[in-house]
Formats: sequence, C-alpha cells, structure tokens
Amino acid sequence: MAQQSLFKSKIGLIAATVGSAVGLGNVWRFPAETQANGGAAFLLTYILCVLVLGIPVMLAEFSLGRAGHSDAVGAFKNLGASRCWWGVGALGILASYIILWFYMVVAGWTLEYLIQSITGVLYEPIAGISDGNGQFAVRMNQFISEGPGAVANTFLMIAINIGVLLLGVQKGIERLSSILMPLLFVLLLVFCYVSVTLPDAAAGLEYFLNPDFSKITPGVVLNALGQSFFSLSLGMGILITYSSYFPAKTRLIKTAFTVSLLDLLVAVMMGVIIFPAVMSFGLQDHGLEGATLVFVTLPEVFSQMPGTQFWSVLFFLFLMVAALTSTISIAEVSVKFMQDRFRFGRVKACLTVLCPLFLFSTVCALSQGPLSHIKICGMTIFDSLDFFATNICLPVGSIFLCVYLGWFSPKGLFESQLTNAGTIRSRFVGIIRFIIRYLAPILIALVLLSPYF
Ligand code: PFF
Repeated sequence: MAQQSLFKSKIGLIAATVGSAVGLGNVWRFPAETQANGGAAFLLTYILCVLVLGIPVMLAEFSLGRAGHSDAVGAFKNLGASRCWWGVGALGILASYIILWFYMVVAGWTLEYLIQSITGVLYEPIAGISDGNGQFAVRMNQFISEGPGAVANTFLMIAINIGVLLLGVQKGIERLSSILMPLLFVLLLVFCYVSVTLPDAAAGLEYFLNPDFSKITPGVVLNALGQSFFSLSLGMGILITYSSYFPAKTRLIKTAFTVSLLDLLVAVMMGVIIFPAVMSFGLQDHGLEGATLVFVTLPEVFSQMPGTQFWSVLFFLFLMVAALTSTISIAEVSVKFMQDRFRFGRVKACLTVLCPLFLFSTVCALSQGPLSHIKICGMTIFDSLDFFATNICLPVGSIFLCVYLGWFSPKGLFESQLTNAGTIRSRFVGIIRFIIRYLAPILIALVLLSPYF
C-alpha cells in the first residue's frame, strides 16, 4: 500500500494513484463491457459516468481519507462518525474482497498468456484449424473450459500474492510497476497504430465511436456506472487509504481530474486497439465471450506485427505486473482490516485473507469452464459475483459516502479539503458540492433501481 515516502513528489502521488486505477479493469473489463453493451453507446455513457459521478465520488474519498488519516473504517471513526457509518467502509472492504476472487482468475490468465508467449506455444498452429480461422478463440476456450490450467495459474498468482505480502516486498513491485506503467502506455500507442491500419479498421472504429442512442438502456447505464467505479477503484475504500498519505498541499481537484482522465485514456486506447481488430479478423463470428475478448483479440494483432513474440511477451509481462499490483493492493485492504480490527499479526492476517481464495477463486475459474452450467440469475458464478460487487456494492457504498460527506461530516470539511483550507480557488467547488449533496446520491440510486422499473 502507498507509503508516505511514496508521495514526496507530485508525480509520485499521481503515478501511484493512476497505478491503482489502471489495471485489468481498463485492459480486460472495459472492452468486454463495451462489447456486451452496444459499443459506442456504452462508451458515451461511461464517459458521462466518469465525469459526472466518478470524479466527484473520487474527491469525496480523497477528502475523507486526507481528513480522516486512516483506512476506510478508521477514517469515519477519526472524524467522529457514528458506528453505522463504519458499515460504509466495511461494505467497501467486502466489495474489494469479492472482486479479488475473480480478479485473481483473470490475473492467472495473464500469467498463462505470458508463459505461452515466452515459450511460443500461443502462436503455434492448432491441428485442424486453418490460419485466420479464430485459432486464438479456440485456444482460449480450450484453456478455460478444461479447467486445470486456469486453476493452476490462479493458484500460482495467489501464491505470488502471499509471498509478496509476507515478504513485504510490495514497495519493490510498486516501483517496478511505476516504471512499467508508462512503458505499457507507449506499447498501447504502438498497438493503436497497428490496429487502426488493419483492413476494415474503420468498421471497428465506427462501432466503438459512433453511438447508436437507441442502445442506451437502464441496464447499459448500470453497467457503465459499475465499470467507471471499478476502473477508478471507487467504493472500495482504496482511495480513502491512499489519500490519507496525501500531503496537505496536494490539490485534490486537479489530482482527481488527472487520475480519472488518464484512466479513461487507457480504456479508450484499449477500445481503439480491440474493435478494429475484432472487425478486421472477423472475430465477431466466433462466439466471443466478453471475458475472453482481450485474450483472443490481442494475439491476433500481435501476429500481424513483425516480432510477434517480442510484443506478446512485453505486453503480457506488463499486464501481469499491473494485475499483480492490483491484486496486492486489493488484498492489502482486507489484510489491514484484519490486523487493525481483530489484532491479527501480519502473517495470520495475510493467510486468513488469501488462503480462502484457493477455494473461492477456483470456483470462479471453473465457472468459466466446467461449471459454466451453474447459473445465478442467469449468469455464471464468475459473472454474478462481478455483477454483485461491481454494480451493487460499489455504487451503494458510494451513495452512503456522498450522503455522509454532503450532510453528516463535520461542517466545512469537504470545502476545506477541496480548497486546501481556503488557500486555493476553484470554480468546480460549488458544482462538486452540489453533485455530492444532491445529484450523485439521487442519480446513483436511480441508476441502481432503473432496471426494475
Ligand atoms: N481499478 C483497478 C482496475 O481497473 O483494474 C482495479 C483495482 C485495483 C481496484 C487496485 C482496487 C485496487 F486497489
């Protein structure tokens, strides 16, 4: 987790917070959600969610964290909030823990693809499948439907997480990721160029960028809201903890805009890479499952580039490190909670949090393959947990956070945090306050309930 020393410089602070935001959510989940929710219509709704709700809620978390100087539960406590508000922090911790179950599975997939890129197996032809005939879709489907491979990689990722958390080498991993993240950004730029120069790229860009407004339904808006909170790491108590390390002179509004726009940029770049490639390779005809979209499409792009294996290794290495920093920081929330609330020692807390994942994440991994027939509300176990944590817990937690900050926190706390005790002026303060007090709680509640109208 973020340390005080991490934030000596402004760049360090932004890098660490962007590092927390950018992860599989942008690279894996965003394209999958975009595809499942009608392309450009989803993108547009997503951008609106980030601007109108994401940034203000991020500012609410920043303010609470910097003023409360603690984790999600402790911050409420330090500000003198009554016990029932602590539940808001606890809900965030629960959401982050459930997210960890399936995030670990996808992190395992990145590990498998890294290994297969290094050994070259990923690009070997599959018997009976001619080139350009969806061989990567076949490979991915085989991998997840067989089960043992996916479970083994998930186990490996859990073991790596336990190792890192017990050895206390998070800082080293974070430093590594702060070098790799800017490089990942450059890599994505290269892939954007390759993808938009593919034949039929225009059709993909049209799908991603030209909205068909009739596709915007209540369900699409809820998915866009969930995705924006997932991607910005909102509602999990993570940013509350991060911002408790922010120096008093940090400009919160500027930081929230910078972090959110960079996160959005990475997501949009992924769309620009994925959708032209999907059209160009005719992948839409291969029954692509949302969750596996990226793992099927990107190898197709790499195979069009000279030095296929080089790009593939580089990309999956960076993605694996990004996934690792995310799983570690998500796990750290629950570990810290166990340490603080139940007075567990470090080792006991780490093991209590991570060992159950060997069971929970295995179920999630298998639910994409051998257990895919088990449905909860029409979704696989993996998808239903994702839906519950992302689309229900994160927004509900955020509503309470807004209500607390807007109505029940010590008077003037929010404004004082936004303006650094009145030393800076920003024309956004009034509007952000309005959004947090009125608009955000009402809008989020409406979005949550709209599928039932
Ligand atoms: N926002 C991250 C993503 O988009 O992948 C997910 C995440 C990472 C959430 C780290 C929380 C966290 F601490």
